[in-house]
Order: sequence, then C-alpha cells, then structure tokens
Amino acid sequence: MDVLKLLHKMTIEEKIGQLMQLAPFFFIKDLEIEVAGHVSDIGINQKKIFQSGSVLGIGNAEEMIEVQKKYLNQSRLQIPLIFMADIIHGYETIFPVPLALSCSWNPQLAYQMARVSASEASAAGIHVTFSPMADLSRDPRWGRVVEGFGEDAYLSSSFVKQMVKGYQNGDISQPGNLASCVKHFAAYGAVEAGRDYNTVDVSRLFLHQYHLTGYKAAIDAGAKMIMTAFNLVDGVPSTVNSYLLREVLRDQWKFQGVTISDYDSLHQIIEHGCAQDNKEAALLGIEAGLDIEMASSCYVNYLPELINEKMVDIKLVDEAVLRILELKNEVGLFDNPFKGANPKLEKELIHSKEHLKTVKEISDECSVLLKNNHVLPLKKDAKIALIGPYAQSRSTNGSWSWHGKRELNSTLEEALIKDGVIPVITLNVESKEKISDQEIEVLKTAEYVIIAIGEDAYESGEARSKTDLSIPRKQVTLIQLCKDLGLKCVVVIYSGRPLILDQVLEADALLYAWFLGSQTNESISDVLFGKVNPSGKLTMSFPRNVGQIPVYYNYFNTGRPKREGIQNEFVSYYLDLPNSPLFPFGYGLSYSSFKYKDLILSQDEIYPSDELCVKVEITNQSDVSGYETIQLYIRDYVSKIARPIKELKGFKKIWFEKQSSQIVEFKVNLNDLMIIDANGNQFFEYGKFAVMVGPNSEDVQSKDFRLIKESEL
Ligand code: NOJ
Repeated sequence: MDVLKLLHKMTIEEKIGQLMQLAPFFFIKDLEIEVAGHVSDIGINQKKIFQSGSVLGIGNAEEMIEVQKKYLNQSRLQIPLIFMADIIHGYETIFPVPLALSCSWNPQLAYQMARVSASEASAAGIHVTFSPMADLSRDPRWGRVVEGFGEDAYLSSSFVKQMVKGYQNGDISQPGNLASCVKHFAAYGAVEAGRDYNTVDVSRLFLHQYHLTGYKAAIDAGAKMIMTAFNLVDGVPSTVNSYLLREVLRDQWKFQGVTISDYDSLHQIIEHGCAQDNKEAALLGIEAGLDIEMASSCYVNYLPELINEKMVDIKLVDEAVLRILELKNEVGLFDNPFKGANPKLEKELIHSKEHLKTVKEISDECSVLLKNNHVLPLKKDAKIALIGPYAQSRSTNGSWSWHGKRELNSTLEEALIKDGVIPVITLNVESKEKISDQEIEVLKTAEYVIIAIGEDAYESGEARSKTDLSIPRKQVTLIQLCKDLGLKCVVVIYSGRPLILDQVLEADALLYAWFLGSQTNESISDVLFGKVNPSGKLTMSFPRNVGQIPVYYNYFNTGRPKREGIQNEFVSYYLDLPNSPLFPFGYGLSYSSFKYKDLILSQDEIYPSDELCVKVEITNQSDVSGYETIQLYIRDYVSKIARPIKELKGFKKIWFEKQSSQIVEFKVNLNDLMIIDANGNQFFEYGKFAVMVGPNSEDVQSKDFRLIKESEL
C-alpha cells in the first residue's frame, strides 16, 4: 500500500480520526444508549467514532472481526482499525508478573514469555501490546513496580529488549507476532512518595543516566510505538513534552514509530494546570509530537478548528497520520484487516499444555529464597500443616491479567496434594485468633508448617500505592503461634512488590513467591520439596522499613559517608537503622552452596580500545546441582560527574552440577565505563576503576584497574 497516496486522498476529518483511540464498546453496543452515557461524556458522535483509527482492548477474535467488519462497512477509504491492548505478562495463559520475571536474571525467559503471549493475543485479533513497561523505580510504595523489571537500568534494559524481540519476532506482519509499545515515557516510576500519577521531579542528569535507559533499549530493539506517561517532567506533562517527544525521541534517538498518550492523559493536562481547555490541550499535543490520543477527544473535537484558524499546520497532522498508516501497513492490515484473528486457533492456544509448560519452566526461575535454616527442601513424607490466608487462594495471576482465568489456577493446597503431600491440616485463616483449640491440637502433630501470607493480587498494580508495606499484624500472629507450638515455619509470601519483612524473620525459611501466574503454586510446591532448586535473586532492594525508602544498591558516596568501625556522628546515617536494606539487590539463596575463589584481572591497566578479562572460579560445594547468577559491578572512582559506588555491568546465570567448578569469565570494555551527561551525551574519563564480582550487590570481591591513554605506556 502506498500510504502517502492514501494520505492525499483523506479529508481533514478522516486524518484526525486516525489520531483517536477508543474502546471497543463504542463500536459494538447500541449507540442510542451509549450516546447518553460514555460517548456524550467525551463529546463525539457516531460519525466521529467510525473515523477513529484504533481500538483499545478487545474481548476475543470474534469480537475483533465483528468490530472490524462493522467499521469497514462505513469506511470510505477502507482504512482498517488497528487493535491495541495491555498484554503485560501473558494473554490468557498467565506468566510471572514482570518484577518476578526479572528475578530470574534470565532475559531469555522474557523472550519466551513474549512469544507465547504474542501467539495467543495475535490469534485474539490484537496487533499491538502496550508492553514492556520500562519505568525504573526505587519505591515499592508505588504499586506499579510489579509491572517493571526492578531498580537497575542495566538489568531492566536486558529484559525490555528481549520482551520487544519476543513480541515482534522480526516481522510484525506475521500472524503470531505483535508490535510492541514501550511505556511510560518518561520517568513515571519516579512519582513522589510512590503515589501513583503524582508529580515527578528529576534532574536532567538522572533522567538521562537512569530513567531513559529502558525506553531507549526498547527502541533500539525495534519497538514500534511509545506511550507517554501521566506525570510531569521539568514541569511539563510528558504527554505534551516536546523536549521528550521531539528532542530526545526523534532528534537524538531517531525514533520513527508512533507515539500515543496514556489513557485520557492529553485531556488531563488541564488538571495539571498546563492547558486551559481541550482546545489548548489539542494544540500542545500536536505541537509536541503526540500522534494518538487515547480515550479522550481533544484532537477529534478541536484540531479541525485549530487548522482552520491557522493555529496548527496541517503538516503536523499529516506527519502523525503517516506514521500511523505506516504502522498499519507494516502490520499488514491493508492486505488483511483481520490479521491474526482466528477464533479456532485462539481456543487451541490459550491454556494449551505447551503454553502451561512454558509458564511452569519460567516460574521455576522466579521465586526468591530469602532464608533457609536447614528446613528446605521439605521431605514429602514429613508431617506438614498448611495455614494462612493464601493457603487456598487461586488469585495468583497478579495485576494486568484481565484475560487470565484465575478459577483455572491451583491453590497451594491443591498443588501440594497433586504432588502427593497431604497436609495434616489446612487452615485458610488470616490470624491465630481464627484457629480453634481443637485445630491447634491437630496443628501440634505436624513437624513443619507452611504459612502462606503476603498481600492480595489487587494490592499492587496501577493506582495501588501504599504507605504501609508491613506484613499485616494478623498474619504475623500465625508465625508466632507456630513458633510457640515448636513447629518449623516455612513462610511463603505472595506479593507484587517488596514488603517489609522484619516481622517475619523468625521463620525458619522464607520464600518470596510473587505472583507467578497460571502455574504459581505448582512451581512453589516443586521448590518447597526440592524438585526445583530455587535460583531467583532480588531485583529491588528490600527496605528495613518504609522510612528508609528509597533504598537502592547503586547509591552515591556522600561527602560524609558512614564507615564501619569509625565513630563519628556527623556522617550520613540514621539514628535508628543501618543504611543498608534488609535484603540487597541481587540477593537470593539456593539449595546449592557456591564458593567464589579470588578474582583475576587480565591486566591492571587498559587502553580505551582494550577489553579487560575478569575471571573467577566458582565451585558448587553441595550435592545439589543448581543455577548461580554471578554479578559484575563497576565503580568509577573519580570523574567530573560523580558516579555511584557500584553499577551492574554484567551478569551470567550458569548451571553448576553438584560438586563442580567452573571458571566464569566477563569482558569489560569502554562501553561499561561510559558516563552519560545531563544532555544524554556519552563520554569517558581516564583513571582508576574498580571491578567487583559476587553473588549479590553487597557480597562482592573487588579489584582496581586503570584506564590509560595510549601515550601513557
Ligand atoms: C493506563 C495505564 O497507565 C497504561 O499502562 C495502559 O497501557 C493504559 N491505561 C491502557 O490500558
């Protein structure tokens, strides 16, 4: 299709229609009824509805086909709708929430998850997914940390890249593939006090060095779209921020794809106090380079008059429309407006044996063992009780699983029974007060108790900010009771964010289960009984209490750092707590035990064109084979722009047979030593660096090396 020719045939109204995205009910339901309700709210009539260019969300393939047919029946130029939706961690077969997935430290799993998600969603008639979310956050009060890949830019970018690759698979015209829309540009994860939609105020330096990295990684991997964020950046709503949308995205990054607002976020700039009305919002949006307006109607209602009044150059509209038509063309919609939609295939794929198997394999790498006082793995013939508010819960899909059917998930009790473990008693209770004396007598007969606690799936996700991240007091009473009864306590925690765990540390074992999707409890059971050796490691630091937030591994050395063993009160510290988190970034145990030998560097001086070879011999000293994730961090000791005390620059997840050793090798090059300035430019400085290697961000060995000029030899 020659989209430029097509553009020339379009009326101004038809062009502007392409810039509007509506939900499917606009097209399906009886419009007489709808006009009185939702439609009239955003002030659009049936004619405008049938000029809109894209749809947000869809029920299934049949619904998509129905909407597309109805639409094309009324479309003068036969420009098909493009269907977009939030396929975040699976379509109907649900995978671990992204934060859990990142704890696998295995980005290849993100690729596999995205492939399965794309195959199901494409069969359901979806063309674009609003995923991955590349927002970085250091604040677990923000409920949307569950949708991201943790606190670190390097690790998160590795996952973002594989998500994009997995969805798109090199050719978005093929059924089974989706176009990827990365979000929320920019710095949405930096909302003040972790309150969703709140103000963001970050320096340009931090924006470039930290927040923008993930979106850039997605675009470098070929993402076709980018969604703006709800928040301000430099006092300007991201949705109309021309620094972000023009200078960074188009000029610096050369992004050619489509930009889209978040839900109603163009209209919301009025509430931000940055536009007096919808007309001004439309003007600011189109000037800033916003192509599609999601779920509000500033463009469709006001661009025609803005163009008439010569306030807006039609060229701006043409550019946006052209990008949208090109995307539709690339998806193949002009050849087949029903691309992908296949009701029969959709039914075959969702929850298929093969897809569930992939979910299980991925889930097995995501839970994180935080403590194990020689109680795990449990023996199947041991006397085990199961208690807690999540003992019989199927709600393990986590946020953004709108198509996932939780009734198909197993409870932990069912998963144990499937594995041949019949609990001496199962008590689906929230606190010890709910347990009768009789039940206590039975409980006492157990040796071990699995206590399933945490927070509900609906407590993390969009608009799910919290100020109290403690494990609820009631749940803690269960551990206390079991301890008093002399039972060995294995605590399993379901959650979509890091919680404050100080009250549950007396448990004998702590397994952070997250929400792993359709196979959560099958996976947890296999970990508890040793069929699976846990290998997840944290990708967000776990604070000791809320007052410590934000706490993260790649902090800066202050001018007055606290030094162990030196008594000085005028240093950067808290009177009541250590500075360090309860569990650091990169931390996680396994049933194997790994020993790191001394770090060896190939040189202690390198030129910019050199590669430093970093080696360490690691031994699995145990009789259990398992994975270890080896992490490499760099510190630049002195530079004009201060650098953090360490930054992740490499990691390897390696399988070790029992009682075996391997030499693990990393290459460090100039790329890993680069600094980004406040304009987003990269540069390096000669001088002294440290390279650190270890099993987590706190437990590292360190060696120094120098980056020198060729002439210094
Ligand atoms: C609002 C959310 O912020 C965004 O992540 C999502 O993609 C859109 N709604 C569409 O559902």
